[in-house]
Amino acid sequence: MTRPSLTERLARHSAERAQAGLLRRLRTIDHADGAWVHSAGRRLLAFCTNDYLGLAQHPTLVAALKKAADESGVGSGSAHLIGGHRREHAALEEALAEWTGRERALLFSTGYMANLGVMQALLQRDDLCVQDKLNHACLLDGAQLAGATLRRYPHADVDGAARQLASQGDAAALLATDGVFSMDGDIAPLGELAGLCRREGATFMVDDAHGLGVLGPQGEGSVTTAGLGQDDVPVLMATLGKALGCSGAFVAGSAALIEGLVQSARTYIYTTAMPPALAAATLAAVKLTLTEDWRREKLQALIARFRHGASQLGLPLMPSPTAIQPLLLGDAQTALDASKALEQQGFLVTAIRPPTVPQGKSRLRITLSAAHEEADVDRLLEALSRVAAPRPV
Ligand SMILES: Cc1ncc(COP(=O)(O)O)c(C=O)c1O
Repeated sequence: MTRPSLTERLARHSAERAQAGLLRRLRTIDHADGAWVHSAGRRLLAFCTNDYLGLAQHPTLVAALKKAADESGVGSGSAHLIGGHRREHAALEEALAEWTGRERALLFSTGYMANLGVMQALLQRDDLCVQDKLNHACLLDGAQLAGATLRRYPHADVDGAARQLASQGDAAALLATDGVFSMDGDIAPLGELAGLCRREGATFMVDDAHGLGVLGPQGEGSVTTAGLGQDDVPVLMATLGKALGCSGAFVAGSAALIEGLVQSARTYIYTTAMPPALAAATLAAVKLTLTEDWRREKLQALIARFRHGASQLGLPLMPSPTAIQPLLLGDAQTALDASKALEQQGFLVTAIRPPTVPQGKSRLRITLSAAHEEADVDRLLEALSRVAAPRPV
Protein backbone atom coordinates (compact mmCIF):
# COMPACT_ATOMS: atom_id res chain seq x y z
CA MET A 1 0.00 0.00 0.00
CA THR A 2 1.38 3.43 -0.86
CA ARG A 3 -0.10 6.11 1.26
CA PRO A 4 -0.04 9.67 -0.16
CA SER A 5 2.42 11.89 1.71
CA LEU A 6 0.72 14.78 3.46
CA THR A 7 3.79 17.00 3.38
CA GLU A 8 4.33 16.39 -0.34
CA ARG A 9 0.70 17.20 -1.01
CA LEU A 10 1.08 20.44 0.93
CA ALA A 11 4.25 21.29 -1.02
CA ARG A 12 2.37 20.69 -4.30
CA HIS A 13 -0.37 23.01 -3.11
CA SER A 14 2.21 25.73 -2.34
CA ALA A 15 3.79 25.26 -5.78
CA GLU A 16 0.37 25.67 -7.42
CA ARG A 17 -0.18 28.85 -5.45
CA ALA A 18 3.20 30.18 -6.59
CA GLN A 19 2.36 29.43 -10.22
CA ALA A 20 -0.96 31.28 -9.92
CA GLY A 21 0.85 34.31 -8.44
CA LEU A 22 -0.87 33.70 -5.10
CA LEU A 23 2.09 32.85 -2.89
CA ARG A 24 1.92 34.57 0.50
CA ARG A 25 5.17 36.16 1.61
CA LEU A 26 6.34 36.84 5.12
CA ARG A 27 8.10 40.13 5.73
CA THR A 28 10.09 40.94 8.86
CA ILE A 29 9.58 44.41 10.27
CA ASP A 30 12.71 45.43 12.15
CA HIS A 31 11.21 48.48 13.78
CA ALA A 32 7.87 50.29 13.88
CA ASP A 33 7.53 53.96 14.65
CA GLY A 34 4.00 55.35 14.30
CA ALA A 35 2.95 54.82 10.71
CA TRP A 36 6.56 54.15 9.64
CA VAL A 37 8.19 50.75 9.50
CA HIS A 38 11.76 49.67 8.83
CA SER A 39 12.17 46.53 6.77
CA ALA A 40 15.12 45.09 4.82
CA GLY A 41 17.12 48.27 5.38
CA ARG A 42 14.39 50.58 4.11
CA ARG A 43 12.03 52.99 5.84
CA LEU A 44 8.49 52.66 4.50
CA LEU A 45 5.29 54.55 5.26
CA ALA A 46 2.72 51.87 6.04
CA PHE A 47 -0.86 52.18 4.83
CA CYS A 48 -1.92 48.64 5.69
CA THR A 49 -2.01 48.18 9.47
CA ASN A 50 -5.13 48.06 11.62
CA ASP A 51 -3.68 50.51 14.15
CA TYR A 52 -6.47 52.93 13.23
CA LEU A 53 -6.07 55.30 16.17
CA GLY A 54 -2.25 55.21 16.24
CA LEU A 55 -2.13 53.71 19.74
CA ALA A 56 0.18 50.72 19.22
CA GLN A 57 3.29 52.60 20.36
CA HIS A 58 1.64 55.11 22.66
CA PRO A 59 3.86 55.82 25.70
CA THR A 60 0.91 55.47 28.10
CA LEU A 61 0.27 51.92 26.88
CA VAL A 62 3.96 51.07 27.04
CA ALA A 63 4.20 52.46 30.60
CA ALA A 64 1.12 50.49 31.73
CA LEU A 65 2.59 47.30 30.23
CA LYS A 66 5.96 47.87 31.91
CA LYS A 67 4.42 48.71 35.29
CA ALA A 68 2.22 45.61 35.32
CA ALA A 69 5.14 43.43 34.18
CA ASP A 70 7.30 44.86 36.98
CA GLU A 71 4.57 44.06 39.48
CA SER A 72 3.39 40.65 38.30
CA GLY A 73 5.76 39.34 35.66
CA VAL A 74 5.12 38.33 32.07
CA GLY A 75 3.00 35.19 31.74
CA SER A 76 -0.34 34.59 33.43
CA GLY A 77 0.88 31.10 34.26
CA SER A 78 -2.30 29.22 33.45
CA ALA A 79 -5.78 29.29 32.00
CA HIS A 80 -8.32 31.75 33.45
CA LEU A 81 -10.18 29.02 35.35
CA ILE A 82 -7.03 27.49 36.85
CA GLY A 83 -5.51 30.58 38.47
CA GLY A 84 -4.49 32.72 35.49
CA HIS A 85 -7.33 35.26 35.87
CA ARG A 86 -5.59 38.31 37.35
CA ARG A 87 -7.01 41.58 38.57
CA GLU A 88 -5.76 43.22 35.33
CA HIS A 89 -8.04 40.91 33.32
CA ALA A 90 -11.00 41.57 35.63
CA ALA A 91 -10.53 45.35 35.41
CA LEU A 92 -10.32 45.23 31.61
CA GLU A 93 -13.45 43.06 31.32
CA GLU A 94 -15.36 45.50 33.50
CA ALA A 95 -14.26 48.49 31.42
CA LEU A 96 -15.15 46.75 28.14
CA ALA A 97 -18.62 45.80 29.41
CA GLU A 98 -19.29 49.36 30.52
CA TRP A 99 -17.98 50.87 27.27
CA THR A 100 -20.12 48.63 25.08
CA GLY A 101 -23.21 48.87 27.34
CA ARG A 102 -23.29 45.15 28.10
CA GLU A 103 -23.75 43.34 31.42
CA ARG A 104 -20.48 41.47 31.18
CA ALA A 105 -17.47 40.93 28.92
CA LEU A 106 -15.10 37.98 28.61
CA LEU A 107 -11.52 38.11 27.32
CA PHE A 108 -10.11 35.72 24.72
CA SER A 109 -6.49 35.54 23.57
CA THR A 110 -7.33 36.34 19.94
CA GLY A 111 -10.34 37.28 17.86
CA TYR A 112 -10.02 34.04 15.96
CA MET A 113 -10.33 32.09 19.20
CA ALA A 114 -13.24 34.23 20.42
CA ASN A 115 -15.29 33.48 17.32
CA LEU A 116 -14.48 29.77 17.36
CA GLY A 117 -15.37 29.63 21.07
CA VAL A 118 -18.68 31.47 20.74
CA MET A 119 -19.84 29.35 17.80
CA GLN A 120 -18.83 26.08 19.43
CA ALA A 121 -20.54 27.03 22.72
CA LEU A 122 -23.77 28.27 21.15
CA LEU A 123 -24.25 25.97 18.18
CA GLN A 124 -24.93 22.26 18.03
CA ARG A 125 -24.95 19.87 15.12
CA ASP A 126 -27.90 20.62 12.80
CA ASP A 127 -28.41 24.13 14.15
CA LEU A 128 -28.45 26.81 11.46
CA CYS A 129 -25.76 29.47 11.15
CA VAL A 130 -26.51 32.21 8.61
CA GLN A 131 -23.62 34.45 7.58
CA ASP A 132 -22.71 37.22 5.14
CA LYS A 133 -20.58 35.85 2.27
CA LEU A 134 -17.83 38.35 3.10
CA ASN A 135 -17.60 37.55 6.82
CA HIS A 136 -14.14 37.08 8.26
CA ALA A 137 -12.68 33.58 7.88
CA CYS A 138 -12.87 32.83 11.60
CA LEU A 139 -16.66 33.30 11.71
CA LEU A 140 -17.05 30.91 8.79
CA ASP A 141 -14.59 28.42 10.31
CA GLY A 142 -16.36 28.68 13.67
CA ALA A 143 -19.70 27.59 12.26
CA GLN A 144 -18.11 24.73 10.35
CA LEU A 145 -16.10 23.47 13.31
CA ALA A 146 -19.24 23.61 15.46
CA GLY A 147 -20.88 21.22 12.99
CA ALA A 148 -23.77 23.61 12.31
CA THR A 149 -25.36 23.99 8.89
CA LEU A 150 -23.65 27.06 7.42
CA ARG A 151 -25.72 29.08 4.93
CA ARG A 152 -24.20 32.21 3.42
CA TYR A 153 -26.11 35.10 1.88
CA PRO A 154 -24.93 37.62 -0.74
CA HIS A 155 -23.02 40.52 0.78
CA ALA A 156 -25.22 42.82 2.91
CA ASP A 157 -28.38 41.34 1.38
CA VAL A 158 -31.03 41.29 4.14
CA ASP A 159 -33.61 39.54 1.91
CA GLY A 160 -30.99 36.91 1.14
CA ALA A 161 -30.40 36.45 4.88
CA ALA A 162 -34.17 36.11 5.40
CA ARG A 163 -34.33 33.40 2.72
CA GLN A 164 -31.52 31.46 4.36
CA LEU A 165 -33.22 31.66 7.77
CA ALA A 166 -36.53 30.55 6.24
CA SER A 167 -34.82 27.55 4.61
CA GLN A 168 -34.85 25.88 8.04
CA GLY A 169 -37.65 27.60 9.92
CA ASP A 170 -37.60 25.18 12.86
CA ALA A 171 -33.86 25.05 13.53
CA ALA A 172 -32.17 27.00 16.33
CA ALA A 173 -30.36 29.78 14.44
CA LEU A 174 -27.49 32.22 14.80
CA LEU A 175 -27.05 35.06 12.30
CA ALA A 176 -23.49 36.42 12.34
CA THR A 177 -21.99 39.36 10.49
CA ASP A 178 -18.90 41.55 10.54
CA GLY A 179 -19.93 45.04 11.74
CA VAL A 180 -17.33 46.65 9.44
CA PHE A 181 -16.20 44.28 6.68
CA SER A 182 -12.49 43.65 7.02
CA MET A 183 -11.58 43.70 3.31
CA ASP A 184 -14.23 46.11 1.97
CA GLY A 185 -14.60 48.60 4.82
CA ASP A 186 -18.38 48.99 4.47
CA ILE A 187 -20.79 48.67 7.38
CA ALA A 188 -23.35 45.84 7.63
CA PRO A 189 -27.08 46.74 7.57
CA LEU A 190 -27.18 46.12 11.31
CA GLY A 191 -30.60 47.64 12.10
CA GLU A 192 -32.36 45.60 9.41
CA LEU A 193 -30.55 42.40 10.35
CA ALA A 194 -31.46 42.92 14.02
CA GLY A 195 -35.13 43.34 13.02
CA LEU A 196 -34.96 40.17 10.92
CA CYS A 197 -33.46 38.20 13.81
CA ARG A 198 -36.16 39.48 16.17
CA ARG A 199 -38.94 38.41 13.79
CA GLU A 200 -37.36 35.03 13.09
CA GLY A 201 -36.32 34.18 16.65
CA ALA A 202 -32.65 33.95 15.59
CA THR A 203 -29.76 35.08 17.80
CA PHE A 204 -27.80 37.99 16.31
CA MET A 205 -24.00 38.14 16.59
CA VAL A 206 -21.81 41.03 15.40
CA ASP A 207 -18.01 40.89 15.04
CA ASP A 208 -16.98 44.53 15.42
CA ALA A 209 -13.23 44.02 15.05
CA HIS A 210 -12.92 47.04 12.72
CA GLY A 211 -15.65 49.23 14.23
CA LEU A 212 -14.72 49.37 17.90
CA GLY A 213 -12.73 52.48 18.73
CA VAL A 214 -13.36 53.98 15.28
CA LEU A 215 -17.14 54.45 15.00
CA GLY A 216 -19.43 56.27 17.41
CA PRO A 217 -18.89 59.40 19.49
CA GLN A 218 -16.73 57.53 22.00
CA GLY A 219 -15.66 54.72 19.73
CA GLU A 220 -18.39 52.38 20.99
CA GLY A 221 -18.46 50.77 17.56
CA SER A 222 -20.86 49.98 14.75
CA VAL A 223 -23.54 48.39 16.93
CA THR A 224 -24.07 51.30 19.31
CA THR A 225 -23.81 53.72 16.39
CA ALA A 226 -26.71 51.85 14.76
CA GLY A 227 -28.72 52.45 17.98
CA LEU A 228 -28.68 48.76 18.93
CA GLY A 229 -28.38 47.50 22.49
CA GLN A 230 -27.83 44.16 24.18
CA ASP A 231 -31.36 42.92 23.41
CA ASP A 232 -30.89 43.62 19.68
CA VAL A 233 -27.37 42.21 19.44
CA PRO A 234 -27.05 39.66 22.23
CA VAL A 235 -23.59 38.53 21.10
CA LEU A 236 -21.05 41.29 20.49
CA MET A 237 -17.46 40.38 19.75
CA ALA A 238 -14.56 42.76 19.08
CA THR A 239 -10.80 42.58 18.96
CA LEU A 240 -8.15 44.45 20.93
CA GLY A 241 -5.39 44.26 18.30
CA LYS A 242 -6.76 46.83 15.90
CA ALA A 243 -7.94 50.33 16.94
CA LEU A 244 -6.86 49.61 20.52
CA GLY A 245 -3.32 48.87 19.39
CA CYS A 246 -2.86 45.79 21.62
CA SER A 247 -3.81 42.13 21.09
CA GLY A 248 -6.63 39.79 22.07
CA ALA A 249 -10.41 40.01 21.90
CA PHE A 250 -13.57 39.94 23.96
CA VAL A 251 -17.19 38.89 23.81
CA ALA A 252 -19.77 41.11 25.53
CA GLY A 253 -23.38 40.36 26.37
CA SER A 254 -25.74 39.28 29.11
CA ALA A 255 -24.45 37.75 32.33
CA ALA A 256 -26.08 34.48 31.24
CA LEU A 257 -24.25 34.47 27.88
CA ILE A 258 -20.88 35.14 29.50
CA GLU A 259 -21.44 32.51 32.18
CA GLY A 260 -22.35 30.05 29.41
CA LEU A 261 -19.10 30.85 27.58
CA VAL A 262 -17.08 30.38 30.77
CA GLN A 263 -18.65 26.95 31.16
CA SER A 264 -18.54 25.81 27.54
CA ALA A 265 -16.26 27.81 25.20
CA ARG A 266 -13.29 25.51 24.67
CA THR A 267 -11.02 28.28 23.30
CA TYR A 268 -11.58 30.10 26.60
CA ILE A 269 -11.27 27.12 28.93
CA TYR A 270 -8.33 25.21 27.49
CA THR A 271 -5.79 27.95 26.88
CA THR A 272 -3.43 30.20 28.81
CA ALA A 273 -4.89 33.56 29.80
CA MET A 274 -3.37 36.55 27.97
CA PRO A 275 -0.42 38.15 29.81
CA PRO A 276 -1.81 40.40 32.58
CA ALA A 277 0.52 43.22 31.51
CA LEU A 278 -1.15 43.15 28.10
CA ALA A 279 -4.53 43.49 29.80
CA ALA A 280 -3.18 46.48 31.75
CA ALA A 281 -1.91 48.10 28.53
CA THR A 282 -5.27 47.44 26.86
CA LEU A 283 -7.13 49.10 29.74
CA ALA A 284 -4.93 52.17 29.20
CA ALA A 285 -5.84 52.01 25.49
CA VAL A 286 -9.57 51.86 26.30
CA LYS A 287 -9.26 54.98 28.46
CA LEU A 288 -7.38 56.89 25.75
CA THR A 289 -9.87 55.75 23.11
CA LEU A 290 -12.77 56.98 25.21
CA THR A 291 -11.27 60.37 25.99
CA GLU A 292 -9.14 61.36 22.98
CA ASP A 293 -11.87 62.20 20.48
CA TRP A 294 -9.31 64.02 18.35
CA ARG A 295 -7.99 60.66 17.14
CA ARG A 296 -11.36 59.71 15.60
CA GLU A 297 -11.81 63.25 14.26
CA LYS A 298 -8.36 63.23 12.64
CA LEU A 299 -8.98 59.79 11.19
CA GLN A 300 -12.31 60.91 9.71
CA ALA A 301 -10.64 63.97 8.16
CA LEU A 302 -7.92 61.77 6.62
CA ILE A 303 -10.53 59.35 5.26
CA ALA A 304 -12.42 62.25 3.64
CA ARG A 305 -9.17 63.67 2.22
CA PHE A 306 -8.15 60.31 0.78
CA ARG A 307 -11.57 59.63 -0.77
CA HIS A 308 -11.79 63.09 -2.28
CA GLY A 309 -8.30 62.86 -3.78
CA ALA A 310 -8.80 59.30 -5.00
CA SER A 311 -12.08 60.08 -6.72
CA GLN A 312 -10.50 63.09 -8.45
CA LEU A 313 -7.83 60.75 -9.78
CA GLY A 314 -10.46 58.27 -10.96
CA LEU A 315 -9.10 55.53 -8.68
CA PRO A 316 -11.33 52.46 -8.20
CA LEU A 317 -12.60 53.32 -4.70
CA MET A 318 -15.13 51.15 -2.89
CA PRO A 319 -18.16 52.54 -0.98
CA SER A 320 -16.48 52.55 2.45
CA PRO A 321 -16.94 55.25 5.09
CA THR A 322 -14.34 53.68 7.41
CA ALA A 323 -10.56 53.53 7.82
CA ILE A 324 -10.42 50.62 5.35
CA GLN A 325 -10.23 52.13 1.84
CA PRO A 326 -9.55 49.33 -0.65
CA LEU A 327 -8.69 50.02 -4.27
CA LEU A 328 -10.15 47.24 -6.38
CA LEU A 329 -7.66 46.26 -9.08
CA GLY A 330 -9.02 42.91 -10.32
CA ASP A 331 -6.47 40.23 -11.01
CA ALA A 332 -3.84 39.14 -8.52
CA GLN A 333 -0.84 40.16 -10.65
CA THR A 334 -2.11 43.72 -11.12
CA ALA A 335 -2.52 44.08 -7.35
CA LEU A 336 0.94 42.60 -6.71
CA ASP A 337 2.55 44.89 -9.30
CA ALA A 338 0.86 47.94 -7.76
CA SER A 339 2.02 46.95 -4.29
CA LYS A 340 5.61 46.49 -5.54
CA ALA A 341 5.58 49.81 -7.38
CA LEU A 342 4.35 51.56 -4.23
CA GLU A 343 7.11 49.94 -2.22
CA GLN A 344 9.68 51.30 -4.66
CA GLN A 345 8.27 54.72 -3.87
CA GLY A 346 8.53 54.18 -0.10
CA PHE A 347 5.09 52.85 0.85
CA LEU A 348 4.02 49.57 2.41
CA VAL A 349 0.58 48.58 1.09
CA THR A 350 0.00 44.86 0.88
CA ALA A 351 -1.86 43.30 -2.06
CA ILE A 352 -4.84 41.21 -0.98
CA ARG A 353 -5.55 38.30 -3.30
CA PRO A 354 -7.73 35.16 -3.43
CA PRO A 355 -8.66 33.22 -1.38
CA THR A 356 -8.76 36.10 1.14
CA VAL A 357 -10.97 37.96 -1.37
CA PRO A 358 -13.05 36.47 -4.24
CA GLN A 359 -11.46 35.71 -7.65
CA GLY A 360 -11.12 38.84 -9.77
CA LYS A 361 -11.40 41.10 -6.72
CA SER A 362 -7.74 41.48 -5.80
CA ARG A 363 -7.01 44.83 -4.28
CA LEU A 364 -4.75 47.13 -2.39
CA ARG A 365 -6.25 47.21 1.10
CA ILE A 366 -5.30 50.75 2.03
CA THR A 367 -5.92 51.63 5.67
CA LEU A 368 -5.72 55.03 7.28
CA SER A 369 -4.68 55.84 10.82
CA ALA A 370 -4.65 58.81 13.16
CA ALA A 371 -0.87 58.26 13.08
CA HIS A 372 -0.84 59.56 9.48
CA GLU A 373 -0.58 63.22 8.56
CA GLU A 374 -2.39 65.02 5.75
CA ALA A 375 0.90 65.24 3.84
CA ASP A 376 1.30 61.45 4.10
CA VAL A 377 -2.10 60.95 2.47
CA ASP A 378 -1.23 63.45 -0.26
CA ARG A 379 2.04 61.66 -0.98
CA LEU A 380 0.24 58.32 -1.18
CA LEU A 381 -2.32 59.77 -3.61
CA GLU A 382 0.47 61.14 -5.75
CA ALA A 383 2.13 57.72 -5.84
CA LEU A 384 -1.19 56.02 -6.59
CA SER A 385 -1.78 58.36 -9.51
CA ARG A 386 1.34 56.83 -11.09
CA VAL A 387 0.55 53.26 -10.08
CA ALA A 388 -3.20 52.60 -10.00
CA ALA A 389 -5.01 55.38 -11.85
CA PRO A 390 -6.80 54.44 -15.08
CA ARG A 391 -4.65 55.17 -18.15
CA PRO A 392 -6.12 57.46 -20.81
CA VAL A 393 -6.98 55.45 -23.98
C1 LIG B 1 -13.58 40.80 11.34
C2 LIG B 1 -12.46 40.10 12.05
N1 LIG B 1 -12.74 39.23 13.03
C3 LIG B 1 -11.77 38.58 13.69
C4 LIG B 1 -10.45 38.76 13.38
C5 LIG B 1 -9.42 37.96 14.12
O1 LIG B 1 -8.91 38.70 15.17
P1 LIG B 1 -7.47 38.38 15.75
O2 LIG B 1 -6.48 38.96 14.81
O3 LIG B 1 -7.45 38.99 17.11
O4 LIG B 1 -7.36 36.87 15.80
C6 LIG B 1 -10.10 39.66 12.37
C7 LIG B 1 -8.72 39.96 11.96
O5 LIG B 1 -7.73 39.61 12.37
C8 LIG B 1 -11.13 40.35 11.69
O6 LIG B 1 -10.84 41.19 10.69
